[in-house]
Amino acid sequence: MSFSFVSPLRIEAGEAAVKQLPNLVKSFGAERVFVFADPGVVKAGITTPVTDELDQEGITYYVYQDLQPEPPIHIGDHAVAALKDFQADLVIGVGGGSALDIASAAAVMHGNEGSIEDYLNLSGTKSFQHKGLPKILIPTTAGTGAEITDIAVFSLENTKDVLTHEYLLADAAVVDPALTYTVPASITAATGVDALTHAVEALVSVNATPLTDTLAMKAIQLISSSIRQTVRDGSNKEARSNMAWGSMIAGLSFYNAGVSGVHALAYPLGGMFKVPHGEANAVLLPYIFDFIWPYATPKMNMMAQALNVYEEDMSEEEAAKAAVLELKSIVEDVQIPADLTHFGVKRDDLKALTEAATKQSRLLARSPKSYSYEEIFDRYVAAFEGKLEVSKTHS
Ligand SMILES: [Fe+2]
Repeated sequence: MSFSFVSPLRIEAGEAAVKQLPNLVKSFGAERVFVFADPGVVKAGITTPVTDELDQEGITYYVYQDLQPEPPIHIGDHAVAALKDFQADLVIGVGGGSALDIASAAAVMHGNEGSIEDYLNLSGTKSFQHKGLPKILIPTTAGTGAEITDIAVFSLENTKDVLTHEYLLADAAVVDPALTYTVPASITAATGVDALTHAVEALVSVNATPLTDTLAMKAIQLISSSIRQTVRDGSNKEARSNMAWGSMIAGLSFYNAGVSGVHALAYPLGGMFKVPHGEANAVLLPYIFDFIWPYATPKMNMMAQALNVYEEDMSEEEAAKAAVLELKSIVEDVQIPADLTHFGVKRDDLKALTEAATKQSRLLARSPKSYSYEEIFDRYVAAFEGKLEVSKTHS
């Protein structure tokens, strides 16, 4: 088989990776740096190691904080205008997914005419002609994988749309686990399960390749062995490091292989009930795999090994079911509610959720098992009732 693989141009990863920042900035010949940072992240002092590096080298910079999660278009357009006003020659994004999305969107928009609205994936009429400014993305959670992918999400009135183009890929991603040390337990849990979901969905994707499998397996291993410990004790540096590294390589894997059913059914939960992305994935994760495992048993066996629940005397079926049960147990152990009722969803809402999920055809097409309307509805019912089929049959 042949396959392609796309990634950011450069990745600096590991403890104290932010110390590479001055060299990176210089390598682009940049003199005026525009930093997009989450206000909460700035307030918590998490951007200080980044700005300290710029200060020490006497690099001129401005920290722009007028951001919000899954921002509306006007927030993005204001960010682009501010970037142009500053006459920046390099962009840095520091924070969670949205800060990194805005940073890469603004960097590309800097080189292109018009509003972000003109370039939206579903409703836009223009395509990018120029790459814009170079950009360095620095995640402070582990993680959305936003430092790896070329997608920036924006909220419209009742829905979401994205900018997506290879121009949005980071010129450099800097993944320093030290920036994640103070992330609160609930965000560590939600972003960590998002990263795990990226890896398990990439592993079973119909677009998986030997390279994405290798990365997904390592990501599952790292995240599943460390997520409980990291949520319990955020000061555990080794566990934090495993999560940061695991999240980043899960990003590389899913950016190339794609995510599918869990994300497809999670998006309407975010849109209609404002369930944060990581929690929306988490509450669906076991129920989606409870449905698809018989159609992906070899991959489910690999997953059982990466999750460390595989035993020599298990049949293929038993190993696959053990993997599903372990996904459920991880979600429970990191204290994310295990059914939809906790997020304000009523039984009457499941049809509307199903309608919305059927529109995610690009994501659903990557699933090893296709979904009918009834099957999507049935998955929401399972997540609503908190009932896992494999629990009943598992010995
Ligand atoms: Fe995700």
